[in-house]
Amino acid sequence: MPTTLTPVLSAHWDEPRAWSLTAYERHGGYRGLRRALTMEPAQVVQAVKDSGLRGRGGAGFPTGMKWGFLPPPDGGPRYLVVNADESEPGTCKDIPTMLASPQHLIEGVAITSYAIGCAHAFIYVRGEVLHVLRRLQKAVEEAYAAGYLGQDVLGSGYSLDVTVHAGAGAYICGEETALLDSLEGLRGQPRLKPPFPAVAGLYARPTVVNNVESVASVPGILRGGAEWFTGMGTERSAGHGLFSLSGHVTRPGQYEAPLGITLRELLDMAGGVREGHELKFWTPGGSSTPIFTAEHLDVPLDYESVGKAGSMLGTRALQIFDETVSVVRAVTRWTEFYKHESCGKCTPCREGTYWLVQVLQRFERGQGTEADIELLLDLCDNILGRSFCALGDGATSCITSAVQYFRDEFEAGTHTPADVLFPPERSARF
Ligand code: NAI
Ligand code: SF4
Repeated sequence: MPTTLTPVLSAHWDEPRAWSLTAYERHGGYRGLRRALTMEPAQVVQAVKDSGLRGRGGAGFPTGMKWGFLPPPDGGPRYLVVNADESEPGTCKDIPTMLASPQHLIEGVAITSYAIGCAHAFIYVRGEVLHVLRRLQKAVEEAYAAGYLGQDVLGSGYSLDVTVHAGAGAYICGEETALLDSLEGLRGQPRLKPPFPAVAGLYARPTVVNNVESVASVPGILRGGAEWFTGMGTERSAGHGLFSLSGHVTRPGQYEAPLGITLRELLDMAGGVREGHELKFWTPGGSSTPIFTAEHLDVPLDYESVGKAGSMLGTRALQIFDETVSVVRAVTRWTEFYKHESCGKCTPCREGTYWLVQVLQRFERGQGTEADIELLLDLCDNILGRSFCALGDGATSCITSAVQYFRDEFEAGTHTPADVLFPPERSARF
């Protein structure tokens, strides 16, 4: 059972000017790229396949396999697009990575692009985080000046351009095909899949879309070797990952640990739930995953074990809520977010999230009825599996799990006046 942290991406975040190229090189930065350039691109793909790295954006799709889905070169362009549109409620791992160690990502972009035969890569950053955009742009400039990007990278004959692009702040643009539409200058809405981006992505060309943490993990694999990476984590969920602890925890922050660590172990390192309080519920991977309770404290946080416990590992955004928080309030707040961010393309999500909010707000006001609980579940049932993209499905998880574990709080919302059930000071804290 893993009990210690494995800082790789976050190893030097607390050093002065950790974000500079000089600091990155001091700690062995760009050794992975140098090694990759001595290998054939197919060997680099194989090394990532052997490492077992799985997509760190939430879905956990094997990264090397995704790269391998690209059709054989036909002389036309193929692209790498880094999904840096981190927006899932509670998720806050990619933004610190890009702020504290942007060269980790840029080295990963260079290696990935070389492996898949891409000459122009894009980093699509969430629109609201201008400070991250500036940091990345500066880091890309430094990498060009040092010969890690641009014409004839490190004298290898391979050339790569990198463009950092800012979105306009829509949650749906984190969905990979909506992101591609947005990058093309269109309104960001999901496309029908298949074809997957690997076959027809940006400008209808073969495209790999990878999350920031996935790409930033690649230099370590090239430097340390696939065996070093598989030496961490579990057999099917290999390697290290950033676990973001937030909410009612004594020391919130990023804890980089092997996949398969438990929340109990992480809480031990983070000083536990804030003093004088106890854990009530938590999310394993942002608000799109079902909520968990104290009974899940020992579930290993890897793809398989979390799946068996009825959730997805998701983004490892561990939001901790103590007994002062109303589950109904938290779930209503998340659902309001999904309603606001629904792109409107499909009816189950566009109309369904609207009605979910209407019904949840009745419970908040203490005006729900017993039948409303069934109505909520029925609405979720009609959204799940009938929505065009994962946003609709994700919006239902917190509600169905909240009713499963805390039905009494919904029942209380059928008759208790709102100011008793949800006093203002509690709502403000959440
Ligand atoms: P998905 O499971 O549909 O796809 C995962 C990846 O594998 C995609 O890149 C897809 O193109 C690729 N893929 C799957 N099957 C393929 C095939 N047969 N051929 C080629 N490529 C294939 O999941 P999706 O919709 O991309 O992501 C959902 C996840 O995103 C959720 O689990 C959620 O945790 C996470 N998420 C993360 C957010 C964030 O801020 N980081 C925001 C919202 C959701
Ligand atoms: Fe848009 Fe929601 Fe349908 Fe996704 S599920 S396409 S976000 S309306």
